[in-house]
Amino acid sequence: MSAQSKSPTKARRITAPDIRARKGGEPLVCLTAYDAPMARILDPHCDLLLVGDSVGMVVHGLDSTVGVTLDMMILHGQAVMRGARQALVAVDMPFGSYEQSPEQAFANAARVMAETGCQAIKIESGVYSAETIRFMAERSIPVIGHVGLRPQAALADGGFKAKGRTEEERDRVLAEARAADEAGAFAIVIEGVDEGLAREITEAVKAPTIGIGASATCDGQILVTQDMLGLFDWTPRFVKRYDDLKSRIDGAAAAYAGEVRSRAFPGPDEVYTLGRKHG
Ligand code: KIV
Repeated sequence: MSAQSKSPTKARRITAPDIRARKGGEPLVCLTAYDAPMARILDPHCDLLLVGDSVGMVVHGLDSTVGVTLDMMILHGQAVMRGARQALVAVDMPFGSYEQSPEQAFANAARVMAETGCQAIKIESGVYSAETIRFMAERSIPVIGHVGLRPQAALADGGFKAKGRTEEERDRVLAEARAADEAGAFAIVIEGVDEGLAREITEAVKAPTIGIGASATCDGQILVTQDMLGLFDWTPRFVKRYDDLKSRIDGAAAAYAGEVRSRAFPGPDEVYTLGRKHG
């Protein structure tokens, strides 16, 4: 069998215009992914896989996403691209890689796209980011905005806090979303706001909204995969656990440790029999 005939039929990759066309339609299914095997498992179920800078906290054990670098995002982006065949893969631009100027953002985003082969990038966007989003979108970089609770601002904000407690804050989050929309973002992540504000934003913008802790009024949903799989003792209130992977891994590791110590593993089924008799 030739190498070519072994490879399965190539699935059509979901594009930024496909995602944009889903405004008000069937909800967008999105999850984070940081490596190839997980991307391979999630891919058939998802419209969009995000290589989130949450990788810093979820995989690398950092306290915030501020320490995540462009090189880390590129490495994880490359791995996810090797696993995902049909979902659109978007890579987060890490803190410090896009805020300085539209030119800085474009250069770094172009590098991420060229070196990973991903289909889009995401930036955490304030009203001030409109110029940067426009600069990139006009130069053929598909951009996702991210408004509301912005994890990269957690140090300045004094923690990961839901947004929209005051009228002023609600107006600001709505203005952030409008700015990203008008500047050409093809989708907008809304994080950590109440249902009323999420609905207001979703109705106000042309781009589909992807909620995380922002109610079912959004055009789609995203969660950190390891959160929804139950890998951590603590998760934010908005996470629903669809499994209890931490207990299951703990159980499997304990069973393995017991069998290694009792010499039950490896057993007859797990050793090579290469023709020579021993003992
Ligand atoms: O970094 C991340 O994972 C995100 C989310 C929207 C989940 O930005």
